[in-house]
Amino acid sequence: MHDFEFKAGELCCEDVKVSAIAKRVGTPFYLYSYKTLTDHFLKIQKAFAKLDPIICFAMKSNGNLSVIKSLVDLGAGIDIVSIGELGKALMAGADPKKIVFASVGKTEEEIAFAIETGILLFNVESEPELAEINRIAMKMGEKVQAALRINPDVPAPTHEYTNTGSLKKKFGIDLRTTREIFKAQQKYSHVKINGVHIHIGSQITSGAPFVGAIKKVVAFIDELRADGIEIEYLDIGGGLGIIYKDENPQTAQQYADKIVPILEKTGLKIIMEPGRFIVGNAGIFVTKVLYVKDNGVKKFVIVDGGMNDLIRPMLYDAYHEIVPVVQSKAAKQKCDVVGPICESGDFFAHDRLIPKVTKGDLLSVMSAGAYGYVMASNYNVRPRVPEVMVKGNKFKIIKERETFKDLMRGEKIVKW
Ligand code: LLP
Repeated sequence: MHDFEFKAGELCCEDVKVSAIAKRVGTPFYLYSYKTLTDHFLKIQKAFAKLDPIICFAMKSNGNLSVIKSLVDLGAGIDIVSIGELGKALMAGADPKKIVFASVGKTEEEIAFAIETGILLFNVESEPELAEINRIAMKMGEKVQAALRINPDVPAPTHEYTNTGSLKKKFGIDLRTTREIFKAQQKYSHVKINGVHIHIGSQITSGAPFVGAIKKVVAFIDELRADGIEIEYLDIGGGLGIIYKDENPQTAQQYADKIVPILEKTGLKIIMEPGRFIVGNAGIFVTKVLYVKDNGVKKFVIVDGGMNDLIRPMLYDAYHEIVPVVQSKAAKQKCDVVGPICESGDFFAHDRLIPKVTKGDLLSVMSAGAYGYVMASNYNVRPRVPEVMVKGNKFKIIKERETFKDLMRGEKIVKW
């Protein structure tokens, strides 16, 4: 479900024509719908109302301040993975008591800043990290709360690079070690270890892997409690899949129907970390056709956006639907939609049937709101594109296009 629809033959975001925005801001650009974004958050909030969870938006999926602020205003907390994300979360007005911090490699500077900020929980990913947090908290004269991120070693049917719940991956702590840490927790005088965290992967469309992992964790918590260990928080991570092509993902309500009954009985305070579910279908990437060429073997539609702007097709072979912004009756043609970058991996689609396009036509790469702009780079000295948000019949630039000066900042020609 999203608010990008054709009205009178033109793709609109809510009540604004995408072509009108392109005229004003140029191409390429990212475009987000406030309504889609907030509706998705509210869907989760409603489905899980019985548990009254802390819904921490995974800002790694989209870190724009206006995006975060829109969610914070509805009561969202934030799942962060770096000091930069913490800084942005605070700038957007997030309540530190709703901020959770995961990352397998938290630095001393990051830990100290998070302690100073008074975040809710560190989601700890190894024993040495726990010892480090304890050392820093002790030095600062503070006591912090932590959840141990367990690696439940369950299969998650998703791309190899977004599968995190297996012991072959770097994430979390195995169950045996977790148990040992909980039993020896008096060693960590400045950390109250009162939570368990899991995140098994991303873009998981069915309920079964989540149910399997959550049942395993709840049984594990029962065991710990039987040993007299107090557990207050369970953070069930993110990972809910969305529609890119022909997926049939579970809805927030279907997800809740499966897991609320399991979690309800535990009396645990539940934390969730959805990213893609909230913002994935709330954004598109708009790009302009520069050239069309046919080499006798293939037809290439060359656009002004590139893999530096949206790397998902190249990195995960991800499918993103591509539609002309102005509806076309032209016959469909099979083509590769490619960017200007000097790499064969610089593509948005291979052998895709789209209506015949010509120079100057606008194309929309759909479902680009999550892991789009945040994964952009300046490869080939290309400025990052603007981000725009629509609310009703208004649009605003929520991040300016980078300038040449931005790209050159801090770079020097040195004399030896
Ligand atoms: N919590 C933790 C600890 C995570 O590592 C992630 C995502 C999330 C929550 C949010 O997961 P989501 O609800 O968005 O699935 N760049 C990849 C996705 C990487 C996901 C990283 N972790 C992509 O474009 O598909």
